[in-house]
Amino acid sequence: MPHDHSHLPAFGPGRHLLSVQQFDRSSLDQLFSLADLVTPIAERQSVCTVLDGAVLGSLFFEPSTRTRLSFESAFLRLGGEVTTTTGFTFSSMAKGESIEDTSRVVSGYSDVLVVRHPDEGSVAQFASASTVPVLNAGDGAGEHPSQALLDVYTLTRELGARGEVIDQSTIAVVGDLRYGRTVHSLMKLLALAEGLSFQLFSPDGLELPDEIADFVRARGHRVRFCDSVVEAVTGAEVVYATRVQRERMTEEAHAGVRGSLLNRAMLEEAGNTGIIIMHPLPRDSRHDSYDLSGDVDDLPGLAIFHQTDNGLKVRMALFLTALGCSADSVRATLKQRPWSARLDWDA
Ligand code: NCD
Repeated sequence: MPHDHSHLPAFGPGRHLLSVQQFDRSSLDQLFSLADLVTPIAERQSVCTVLDGAVLGSLFFEPSTRTRLSFESAFLRLGGEVTTTTGFTFSSMAKGESIEDTSRVVSGYSDVLVVRHPDEGSVAQFASASTVPVLNAGDGAGEHPSQALLDVYTLTRELGARGEVIDQSTIAVVGDLRYGRTVHSLMKLLALAEGLSFQLFSPDGLELPDEIADFVRARGHRVRFCDSVVEAVTGAEVVYATRVQRERMTEEAHAGVRGSLLNRAMLEEAGNTGIIIMHPLPRDSRHDSYDLSGDVDDLPGLAIFHQTDNGLKVRMALFLTALGCSADSVRATLKQRPWSARLDWDA
């Protein structure tokens, strides 16, 4: 699997975003400052029109709810307009059009593209033929950089609220570590921190690719493979749980994975009910699905909806960066809004 993207240029104005390896600590801090700047816009306290006249081409060839809607909402909240196509059925790819032809065509209609596709490496192929920046919204089991960026943004703020930092922390990562692209991007991005200890647990057959373990170890972090989720979460500041990526495996392989991945009783057994709980979502809530249980939802460290809210801000920051908008240009177009989405008008 081509997990090494060290050849890619740093992410910035006029650049594609294909991998988290396009960031270093300073560009990460810059992106996070932009995300902080746009927070009042994301939270609907003010309106911004900095992307007036810009058009986003949103191409999702794989199921998505939050990634597509948050990318599209992010663009709309900045004053741009969105065109979208979902699935293969409604696109010319169903007629056999190549990725390169599709990309060249739609980049003529758009100022930036967001692309999700089931094949690893396919978004890079899109980028190679595009005349505008392409942001990778997930390429098969490869990478999901915008998710990892919002995950690290969230983790920084969750730990910050506790007076802690990511450096030197212990991070449990549990679930489908083989096909879960969010984990691949997240561990690579977290490798920018100092002295982390990763405690991993995955069911048989869903182990982390060696390249990812080697990548983080080469940057001075510890990786420990655990025999149970309880062992993985013991002593950890955060647990990142993932859904079994059923769509990327045979029914036979999937049939072997049953029961609860992570629930309250396991955190109680580990003496760690205060742990920060993260998940890229969606979590599989069907009966007997092997995923994060809903019985952790009232624990104080639940951060899964902070992640989804933060996704909007981080994706706004990605668009501003790719399209070369400065913080000043954002401030210059900020307006009061004459409307409100609040539910409590009578309160
Ligand atoms: C993830 C994905 O698509 O990789 N979802 C998301 O974008 N938040 C995780 C998943 O589908 O399990």
